[in-house]
Amino acid sequence: KSQKITVIGSINMDIVTKSSIIPKVGETVMGDSFFTIPGGKGANQAVAAARLGADVTLIGCVGEDAFGKELTEHLGKQGIMIDNVKPVTHSSTGIASITLSDGDNSIIVVPGANYEVTPEVVKEHEHIIEESDVVLLQLEIPLESVIEAVNLAKKHHKTVILNPAPIQPLPKELLQQVDYLTPNEHEQQLLLSANDLIDEELEQIKTKCIVTQGSKGVTIYKNEEKLISGFKVEAIDTTGAGDSFNGALAVSLSNGASLEDACQFANAVGALSVTKLGAQSGMPTIQEVEAFLSAQRG
Ligand code: RIB
Ligand code: NA
Repeated sequence: KSQKITVIGSINMDIVTKSSIIPKVGETVMGDSFFTIPGGKGANQAVAAARLGADVTLIGCVGEDAFGKELTEHLGKQGIMIDNVKPVTHSSTGIASITLSDGDNSIIVVPGANYEVTPEVVKEHEHIIEESDVVLLQLEIPLESVIEAVNLAKKHHKTVILNPAPIQPLPKELLQQVDYLTPNEHEQQLLLSANDLIDEELEQIKTKCIVTQGSKGVTIYKNEEKLISGFKVEAIDTTGAGDSFNGALAVSLSNGASLEDACQFANAVGALSVTKLGAQSGMPTIQEVEAFLSAQRG
């Protein structure tokens, strides 16, 4: 039986410009190429999990516009349950303006319809949360909605993974409630510093952290601090690597893997995802991950 993963999060169209030079303020440069590609941390994580064979439901909002229609259809084709992706009239579909340079990126997100995922919308979907094995969250919808989702998920004793990106100060009750936090190095620093935490609470929250460090791998703190090494690949586009990791982590943990094994599996998924342009384009199927891992073992 495949595990049920519910993602409550953002759906964006990524507006990608590839350029060898990044303009400084007031400067104009000539770029190399331009693409519109499906993205959004919520949608990306949902696609990553669906490709790996999980039963994925996405709860989110798009605008009643061309991007919204295109993205919803696209997500449906990925095998994601999209009945709970709601078109809203008064906001446009979320977008991310991405500049790619040397395989690295900088991103401006305009949330638009993603901010219509209100706590009320989350509440309306309590039955879906109740039916899931894992609830996967990010911070591209209103924080109050994330808080509501975590409250409902914990009410029903579900495993909650919070990818705290883009980072913002978070209430300590939220950090205490979730099961796993998946910041990158920069996000972890802010996460653990911006709070009124006493030492003991800080330690407790730290043990939930899985800190992603790009190709280096991830550090876990569950029993002791431990690096789970990543895989070296040729990076074409790192956009969505963290999302691939999170989707894969949710799948592996829901299948009952140990944290270390789940992180190793998710590292492989993250690595494969950066070998192709676009957040979702390189996300592998379970067969591709298994082939990759057995080739790595030699
Ligand atoms: O994590 C990558 C994603 O962040 C992109 O797809 C973009 O939409 C932004 O939300
Ligand atoms: Na990619």
